[in-house]
Order: sequence, then structure tokens, then C-alpha cells
Amino acid sequence: MLSGIIGHGEPAPVSGHQASSLAAPAKKPGCRAIAVAGGKGGVGKSTVAVNLGMALSMSGHEVMLLDADMGLANVDVLLGLTPSRHIGHMLDGQCSLEDLLLQAPHGLQVIPAGSGARRLARLDNGEHAAVIRAFDDLARPPQFLLVDTAAGLADSVAMFAAAADDLVLVVCDEPASLTDAYALIKVLSRDFGVRRFRMVANMVRNEGEARQLHLKLSRVSDRFLDVVIDFMGWVPHDERLRQAIRQQRAVMDLWPSSRSSLAFKKLAGAVDKWTEPERTGLDRIAFFGDRVPSTAGY
Ligand SMILES: Nc1ncnc2c1ncn2[C@@H]1O[C@H](COP(=O)(O)OP(=O)(O)OP(=O)(O)O)[C@@H](O)[C@H]1O
Ligand SMILES: [Mg+2]
Repeated sequence: MLSGIIGHGEPAPVSGHQASSLAAPAKKPGCRAIAVAGGKGGVGKSTVAVNLGMALSMSGHEVMLLDADMGLANVDVLLGLTPSRHIGHMLDGQCSLEDLLLQAPHGLQVIPAGSGARRLARLDNGEHAAVIRAFDDLARPPQFLLVDTAAGLADSVAMFAAAADDLVLVVCDEPASLTDAYALIKVLSRDFGVRRFRMVANMVRNEGEARQLHLKLSRVSDRFLDVVIDFMGWVPHDERLRQAIRQQRAVMDLWPSSRSSLAFKKLAGAVDKWTEPERTGLDRIAFFGDRVPSTAGY
């Protein structure tokens, strides 16, 4: 199924990192940035970012959610928030990152991206880096930063994804979702040295279907790329979730016992069990600037 996008005998080159070096000093304990990506549009990236973030928050963690879908922001809409300022205002020096923080239910804090702002849709890599670095100056960094990324393979997606400690790939049971996820894995591994991915199957019927999807993606990635794709879990197709979206509420908030909410709780439980991220070998720009450059792998 994926043959259309894979060149024959394609190697898994590991080139230098595109982002500039950031030799940061001490590591701040407990700041873990988790990017939610997927390549394809509409697979549920924002839904997973919002509800996983809220599930982590509900289980007692301090959580921030950065909407990194610049120019087409969704997170504020999904949560019924009405931001008066966005990342663009911070980049223009009109406010700080703290000034942008919005309070969502259950203690989740949201940093909105701004919708329809052409300036945001055209940020250059230096500006993406400035957004990432702004987190270094937070007086009270969260335990988890969830980063909701845009669809596609734009520089912004790659930079935000590569700047995180962990990469959650949202995939659904459509050929284009698998091919787009593969394309994203390829870019991130080849150009940014990202080696580990965690896959969430969304809108599936059962665990068997979810594991099938994981098998398909890891089979082809194992063959052509030097990466590891862990199976993180799955979220069922749930009408309750759609109803919650229509009411501009997170399903975790509105129906915490729905099938999808239980799945998000389970995903949050999985995050809790993750071991400390390996931070060797990263000389790219990273959230919380606590990477120690070295030559080892990810
Ligand atoms: N588990 C689910 N059950 C039912 N519907 C779902 C589920 N997950 C997502 N959806 C539906 O898919 C739509 C798209 O989800 P979402 O906005 O999270 O995708 P996305 O990947 O962030 O899209 P984009 O690439 O446009 O940012 C939702 O509005 C919702 O209707
Ligand atoms: Mg989205």
C-alpha cells in the first residue's frame, strides 16, 4: 500500500540537523514536551492533543497545550476559548508567552495560535525557533507541554515536532493517513535525526484494527528507515466525541466516561509510564532548552 511513496532500496540517511545548535545548560526536571503530529489532515491530531492534555491535567499534572497550527488555529475553537492575543503578538514583542495563557477546564492551560492571521501562516524558521525558545523563560514551566501540529510536512511541523521529547503520531485507517505518516517519519528521521515515534490509532473499531495499522506502518518503516515506532494505544470512533466538538467542549470534560474519554485516560496512563526521554545526540532547537549536544543517537 505504501509502495507509491517509497523509493527502492531507499536508505535511512542521518544527516545533520537543520535547526541551529542550542547548547543549553541545566535540565529543568519534569518538563516533557510531547508533539502530536500525523502528516494527514483531519486524522484527529487536535482532538488527541486536547483530550490527552486534559486527561493528563485531570490526573494531577500541570499541562500546557501549544497550538502550533499557526494561522489555522483549532485548539481554542475545540475548547470554546476566545483568545484576544496569539503567538504573533508575542513575536511582535507586544506580550509575553505568559500573557497568552488561557485557562481551559481542569487546569489545562492553552497557548493559542491565532486563526486567519496571514502573518502567522508565514512564519520563518527563525520565528518558529523563537516560539520554541520562549518556553525557556516560563517562570513556571509545566510538567507536560502538548504541541498540536499542523497537517502536512511544512518546516513548521518538522521543527515543532523535532523540538519535542516525544512524538505521538496519530493515524487512522485510511491509505493516505499511512502514507502521510510515513512521509513525516521519513522527513523527521532523515533531516532531524528523530528515531522514536509513538503511534496512536484514531477512529478505529477495536484494538485489533489499531494493531493492524501499527503493523502496516512499522513494517514499511522497519524496512526503509532506521526508526522505532511504538504502539501507544488507540481511540475508538465515538459519536460522543463529535457531539462534544459541536458543543466546543473536550469530550474528556463533557463525558468523562464515554468510550473515547476512557481511551484518552488510558493514553495518559501510558505517558505516565514512559521513562525519562533520552536527550543525548540532540543539537537541534528544543522545548525547554535542556538538551545536551553530543554525537550519540536519539
Ligand atoms: N475518535 C473520534 N471519533 C469520532 N470522530 C472523530 C474522532 N477523532 C476525530 N474525529 C472527527 O475528526 C474531525 C477532525 O479531527 P481533528 O480536528 O482533531 O483532526 P486534525 O488532524 O487536527 O485536523 P487538521 O489537520 O485539520 O488540524 C473532528 O472534528 C471529529 O469530527
Ligand atoms: Mg488540527
